[in-house]
Formats: sequence, C-alpha cells, structure tokens
Amino acid sequence: MKTNPTWLDTDEYPFSPHYYKCEVGDIHYVDEGKGDPIVMVHGNPIWSFSYRHLIKQLSKSHRCIAMDHIGFGLSDKPADWSYLPIDHAKNFEQLMEHLQLKDITLVVNDWGGPIGLSYAIAHPERVKRIVLFNTWLWQTNDDWYYQLFSGFMGGFIGRFLIKQFNFFARTFIWVVYGNKAKLTREIHRHYVEPLKIPAERKGTWVFPKEIIGSGKWLGELWSQIDKIADKPTLILWGLRDIAFRKKELARWKGALHNYTVHTFENSGHYPQEEVYEEVGRLLTIFLEK
Ligand code: BEZ
Repeated sequence: MKTNPTWLDTDEYPFSPHYYKCEVGDIHYVDEGKGDPIVMVHGNPIWSFSYRHLIKQLSKSHRCIAMDHIGFGLSDKPADWSYLPIDHAKNFEQLMEHLQLKDITLVVNDWGGPIGLSYAIAHPERVKRIVLFNTWLWQTNDDWYYQLFSGFMGGFIGRFLIKQFNFFARTFIWVVYGNKAKLTREIHRHYVEPLKIPAERKGTWVFPKEIIGSGKWLGELWSQIDKIADKPTLILWGLRDIAFRKKELARWKGALHNYTVHTFENSGHYPQEEVYEEVGRLLTIFLEK
C-alpha cells in the first residue's frame, strides 16, 4: 500500500490515493464523489494536483477521476519506458477500461488533449461531453512556432535543461502561467517535487520532442475529429498562454459543431488553476444543461 509523499500538502490536495497497475507501472488517480463521472487528464509537466480545486467543488455532485500519467505526479516513473504520447494514451485507455465508466465528461489540458481525446475518438459512446482547457489535437509539423519550440526543447540543449535542472517544472510552468499571483512558492513546489530526481524526468523531456515527433499520430487523430465534433463541448481558454493562442482556439471553433467558449484575459495555460472560481461556476452550468 503506497502512502502519500511527505512533501504533499494534504490540506491543499485532500484526496485518498488510488492505484491502477498497468503494464509499465502503477498509475495514481483520484476517485472522489459519487454520480456521473468527470475524468480529468493533465499535460506536461503537471499532474492531477492542477485539478484539485475542481475536484473539491465538483465531487459534491459528481464522481471526479483525475489520473497522473506514468512519469508524473504520484504515478511510477520507470527509467526504461518509451513515454511516447501514443503509449500514454494506451495506459489511459486501460485505466478507463478498468473503471468501466460511461456518460463521461472528459476534461483535458495540454497533452491531456491528445491523450484523453484519442480515447473519446476510439470510444465515442462512452463520452457524453468534453471540456477543453488550452490544448490541441492536430499535427503542427508545418508550423514554425511549434517546430522551433519542439526542436529546441526536444533537442540536446532542451533535454539537458530538463534533465539536469527540471526546466519544465521550474521554469516552463512559470512562463506559461498568465495569472502569476496564483503560482505561489507553495503551489509551485508541488510541481517541482514529483520530478525531483533527474532519472525520473524522462516523461517531461519526451513530451516537447513529441509535439513534432508524434505528428503522424496527431494527424490521424485530427482526421477523425468528426467522431466527437457533435459532443457538447465547453472550451475554457486562457488568453495569456504562449503555448496555445487565439490561433489554436480558432482551429477548435472551426472543427467543432456544438461548443460554448469562454476566454479569460487573466489566465494563461492552466485556467483550471489560475481562474478556478470562474471555471468552477461555468463548469457547473455546463454540467446542469
Ligand atoms: C509540452 O510538451 O509540454 C508542450 C506541448 C504543447 C505546447 C507546449 C508544450
């Protein structure tokens, strides 16, 4: 039986740990509340901690499940696994099959988009609604912006910075956070601690490389967007994000058929954390519809 690490503030994150044994290691997840399921999928380099405010609020009326990908948060961090997004997606699918959920409200952010939505595309009958926080689902191999970012962060220097200095957890989060007052030292520490050991940072350096490296997989997912384009979708978009901008928001709007959008002037990449009060209010309205 695994216990919570000592660095975890259990007032801030007061949830019982659950583990699912997948082929490559133990996946940690939160499973709080009763009712229709809300499944939350995080990106790089964060973990289910980022969804804590929403879990606290929504678990009063819903079953809230928030998992940590292998290599992140409280999940195992094996040194010799691929950490490819397509393999994270297989793990996520296994966890979903294990939990046998239906009528899922799927909430995704950053790499949680491709990983979570690949499940929705493969099993559209299980997913009732979608909530998108700054994310994407298409190939960006012909976009110089992502080419530069992925080439640099996924190349020799980026990998060195991430492996030796925990660059993504220490610096990238701060850069893409729009409402920096919300990223206190105390909160930021919860993103640095799970990636404290260089040998456990493979997950956080493979992701940026795969923005381009997994272009084929992303392109295949986007070509199937019609399988989920009619689902009621709530788009909650931080406008101060430099990773996903108005251009990417416009792409979602062009592809989805049944969406509502709210943008936030005072949020960056993580609206679920940066403007959680407003996000919680909008989500409650969306869930009641
Ligand atoms: C990442 O791999 O962390 C990442 C993905 C998309 C945009 C920015 C960063």
